[in-house]
Amino acid sequence: MTELVIRPERSADFAAIRQVLVAAFGDDEVADGVDRIRESWIYRPATSLVAVSDGEVVGHVMITGCTVTGEAGERPVAMLTPLGVLPEHQRRGIGAALVRAALAGAEEAGEPYVVLEGSPKYYGALGFRTAGDYGIEMELPDWAPPEAAQVYLLPTYDPADPTLRGKISYPPVYG
Ligand SMILES: CC(C)(COP(=O)(O)OP(=O)(O)OC[C@H]1O[C@@H](n2cnc3c(N)ncnc32)[C@H](O)[C@@H]1OP(=O)(O)O)[C@@H](O)C(=O)NCCC(=O)NCCS
Repeated sequence: MTELVIRPERSADFAAIRQVLVAAFGDDEVADGVDRIRESWIYRPATSLVAVSDGEVVGHVMITGCTVTGEAGERPVAMLTPLGVLPEHQRRGIGAALVRAALAGAEEAGEPYVVLEGSPKYYGALGFRTAGDYGIEMELPDWAPPEAAQVYLLPTYDPADPTLRGKISYPPVYG
């Protein structure tokens, strides 16, 4: 059985990560966004991870920063995006393993939660819940159902903390 290693990305991985993202998403857009993330304040190297199988980078995930703005002001929180696995390595649990490892890193960093926009079926199975139920608003594309805005609650999450409720702003690197 091939061993899957999940570890923080290194600069030597960047070209291989681009190949993974282009293959997974079908064009350069997400890979270009990842380059911009690495140049910006939202970059969090400890939760920017690769999955390596037989020495080859086969998957990539990032938990970065964004902000939530509500009645209690604005504060940074964590956001998971993007997640990509090489098509020929999909459906083997690599995506799930990357998400779990990145969430563990966010927990270690003391984050109260991690938000994302994505398939409620896929991320719901990994423990994500509907963000709106926790007072977290995210702007979604017209075609996305409201449940596409999701949140994973970590142990330091305090439902009584008003700074954790409000509207998520995507940093400008997302264009
Ligand atoms: C989404 C993605 C990362 C999943 O990676 P993976 O390694 O195949 O994931 P896992 O093996 O952990 O899980 C596979 C399961 O998720 C399901 N799944 C994959 N994408 C899904 C989606 N968008 N919606 C619902 N289910 C999905 C698969 O059908 C599979 O289910 P099954 O095993 O019951 O058939 C991968 O399909 C990918 O790179 N897709 C293109 C990029 C993308 O859409 N990324 C997510 C948005 S940022």
